[in-house]
Amino acid sequence: MFRSWESAPAAHDDARAGNGVTRVADHLGVEHLLVTRHALVRQVLTDPRTYRPDNALDAVTPIPVAALRILARHRFRLPPTLANNGEASHPGIRALVAEALHPSRVAAQRDWLTELVRQRVTRLTADLDAGAPVDLYAGLAADLPLLVLARLIELPDAPVTAVKDFARAALELFWAPLEADRQQQLATEVGRFHLVLREFAATGGGLAASLRAAGHPPDVVVGALFFLLVAGQETTSQFLTLLMHRLIGEPTVLAGLRNGSVGVAEVVEEGLRLEPPIVTWRRVSTMDTLLGGTAVAAGTSIVLWLARAGRDSAVVDAPEQFLPGQRGSRRHLAFGAGAHRCVGDQLARMEAATVVAEVAPLLAEVRVLRAPWYPDNLTFRMPDTLLVGR
Ligand code: HEM
Repeated sequence: MFRSWESAPAAHDDARAGNGVTRVADHLGVEHLLVTRHALVRQVLTDPRTYRPDNALDAVTPIPVAALRILARHRFRLPPTLANNGEASHPGIRALVAEALHPSRVAAQRDWLTELVRQRVTRLTADLDAGAPVDLYAGLAADLPLLVLARLIELPDAPVTAVKDFARAALELFWAPLEADRQQQLATEVGRFHLVLREFAATGGGLAASLRAAGHPPDVVVGALFFLLVAGQETTSQFLTLLMHRLIGEPTVLAGLRNGSVGVAEVVEEGLRLEPPIVTWRRVSTMDTLLGGTAVAAGTSIVLWLARAGRDSAVVDAPEQFLPGQRGSRRHLAFGAGAHRCVGDQLARMEAATVVAEVAPLLAEVRVLRAPWYPDNLTFRMPDTLLVGR
């Protein structure tokens, strides 16, 4: 099972002792090549001729006919647009998304977000003072990235609960080990929201309008929005939760933030290195080749263990320790690398820095009552709650 990505000492030790490339079988017995070393993960990500991104969004549990029929009834189609697009259309679509997420547009959201986070932290602190437990996931992580994204891409009246449910359903449908019944439920949920997106893609302003104006067909506009609504907010919600949880266990870092000896940006970077929300990412080999001395046949699924690459002792001085600013801290691959490198990285960093700066004093004064639970998933960490009290 995939939970074994984190806990499988065998794969991990083999990878460390060996050349950083290990053959592993998934829950269905399908073989993948697991790559752990930083240098090799980077090599794969930055060589699109030998390793294409086509399989990035493939369902790891193939979707059976009954669930495919449900998707088809909702006119669900997911043509290559961004992360899984190795075609000539990719740079143009990417450029329009990058424009919507331009650093100046991201920076313009900072004050608004700071105010919102400040209000939330004040309310959470009052609840804690009154002796009540609070859920930092629900209070500070779940909806904030979506609210910011909605402003940037001009998503009207973002139906927060519907988008969150859809996004989590999509992450489960495409990246989790699943039974057929569950696949049908998820297909219904994903399909329904896809219809809403189709309407927005046809009539919406902002990014939808600029994709249409550039001549992209409706399926491509829907596909790009579909990916953004998942990748552009769920990942950051997860990261905020992972980072807050980690920081509660790092009193020295919290004290440093408080007395100004530790910078917020360095904390975010070390958080991305040690607690990336995207644990693995996939590529597929286009030809017979060699990777770190291991033979790779054309068509092999390559699973890049981004989380492990961030803890490679060849790159980082103290790989397992949370030491903001240490050598190699910024060289993580949490955002990927090369032509498909995350285009929302500055947005994610801004959101995380804003939350960390505002919530650090609160984190120093709480204890964890219930740690997040993570469902089994090849790629995403999907925390459900982070319950804390005094
Ligand atoms: C902590 C939060 C995030 C993490 C860890 C993350 C990570 C990643 C990773 C690993 C990739 C694949 C990179 C590759 O193939 O080399 C990716 C791609 C992408 N991400 Fe993010 N991401 C985050 C937040 C965001 C946000 C906030 C947005 C937008 C609002 C976003 C939009 C995208 C897009 C559009 C792509 C596809 C880029 C392309 O194919 O050209 N991501 N991200």
